[in-house]
Amino acid sequence: MLTRHLDPAAGYITRTFVREPESFASARAVGEQLRPGMQVSPYEGHMLSWLVRMSGARRVLEIGSFVGYSTLWMASALPEGGELVSLEISADHAAHANQHLMRSGLHPRAQVMECDALAFLESYHGRAFDLVFIDGVKKDYVRYLDGALAHLAPQGWIIADNAMLFGAFTGEVRDEVSPAARAAMAEYHARMADRSQFDSLMIPTLEGLLVARRVG
Ligand SMILES: C[S@@+](CC[C@H](N)C(=O)[O-])C[C@H]1O[C@@H](n2cnc3c(N)ncnc32)[C@H](O)[C@@H]1O
Repeated sequence: MLTRHLDPAAGYITRTFVREPESFASARAVGEQLRPGMQVSPYEGHMLSWLVRMSGARRVLEIGSFVGYSTLWMASALPEGGELVSLEISADHAAHANQHLMRSGLHPRAQVMECDALAFLESYHGRAFDLVFIDGVKKDYVRYLDGALAHLAPQGWIIADNAMLFGAFTGEVRDEVSPAARAAMAEYHARMADRSQFDSLMIPTLEGLLVARRVG
């Protein structure tokens, strides 16, 4: 979620290194119209696709699709035979997202399921995921993490957006942050900083993209 606050470096990097397909740009425009500032920026989308490619992930799970902009970037980086499942609680958002995947030729390799991610994670019994991208409600990040870990492959990847919680840890709050969200994110940081469990890296995008690999 950097679109509203694009800084000069991110602008330069985007112009120089990011190639956003037209169908992705139209999906982003729909998202911006619906709820401004909800989706990752083109630069962060590019970063997510690069991380999917570099990790070699074949099965990706996303928590929080919105209209599918981040879904498109990650799906476009899957290898032949790879799959992405994205979970979205809003029927309207899920319908938009699936439409955008179809228009971009990425459906059915990537599909959005209309459901509560927490309920899905509790009842899921399918194959493990290699990479999970968390971008749902901030106060639930630790619950998403615990749910996701039950279905994450050994040495799988967990990536979380908005990990700096709109400036809540640096005294520059840019959006309203509830005490519950701050407490959850602080716990999420502590879990990710535990070297016996995760090899993690906070990428200092304005929102903070926390990338971690499960150890062992
Ligand atoms: C920040 S937006 C996701 C943006 C998207 N990842 C992108 O960058 O293009 C968060 C989305 O999570 C959805 N959401 C919230 N709680 C959820 C839950 N429990 N299960 C699934 N989706 C949820 C919201 O409806 C919203 O569309």
